[in-house]
Amino acid sequence: MSEPTTNLINGLPADCKIPAHVAIIMDGNGRWAEQRGLNRIEGHFEGRKAARRVVEACGELGIPVLSLYAFSVQNWQRPGPEVEGLIGLIETALREELDALVTNDVRFIASGRRAELPESLRRILDEVEEDTADNQGLILNLLVNYGGRTEIIDAARALAQEVAAGDISPADIDEQLFAEHLYAPELPDPDLIIRPGGEMRLSNFLLWEIAYAELVVMPVLWPDFTAAHLIAAIKEYNTRQRRFGRVPASDDQ
Ligand code: FPP
Repeated sequence: MSEPTTNLINGLPADCKIPAHVAIIMDGNGRWAEQRGLNRIEGHFEGRKAARRVVEACGELGIPVLSLYAFSVQNWQRPGPEVEGLIGLIETALREELDALVTNDVRFIASGRRAELPESLRRILDEVEEDTADNQGLILNLLVNYGGRTEIIDAARALAQEVAAGDISPADIDEQLFAEHLYAPELPDPDLIIRPGGEMRLSNFLLWEIAYAELVVMPVLWPDFTAAHLIAAIKEYNTRQRRFGRVPASDDQ
């Protein structure tokens, strides 16, 4: 038997399965800053650089979809300056990265309760979505003012309105119809969730969509996350046997 070949560029085996959708909980910015005696917002600034590295790496690895958890509905409860800093950082990053997203064929979408965001951020989210709508490369799904439970509630409300209007009956509601009312129904469910920062929890992240996702928790703090960590997570993902509730079959991956 011949040795498995390795892709020399990314260190992944040639027969490695690339997940169709990688979703990342970008955790550990605050600890990274505190360890250095810096303000927490400095950690978020470094976290932005890590996000850029990972977007580039996903493009190079041919990962079709990347979701990044940038601001949760719970994050409003943080101290005012941190909230303002984070919202401002997301807005600035999008303004500064718009050209690079267009040039690199990245299609940008934002998921979350947009109506509750400041108008200037709403406008840039709309602008980046419109300007990248025809791009064919990586889909970057940025979760802003996002909550998994809120997303499920919003889908339930939309369906309830359709029932009330007489457009559908309650019996029409199945998993497929429900999923069609989530924020980004065109995306495949995540295959791989990566949580840097070491915490073993899901923090209200894509609760419906991750029903069968593989979770990889890594001790590295998000600002220190590099392409090498992404590759390590994909290698770990390749060791998992995914069964989707079925019994293992010899050729089951
Ligand atoms: C969690 O770390 C991180 C966040 C709440 C914000 C993440 C946002 C970014 C990195 C901005 C990225 C922007 C773009 C446009 C991609 P934490 O503060 O909870 O860290 P801790 O657990 O160490 O306190």
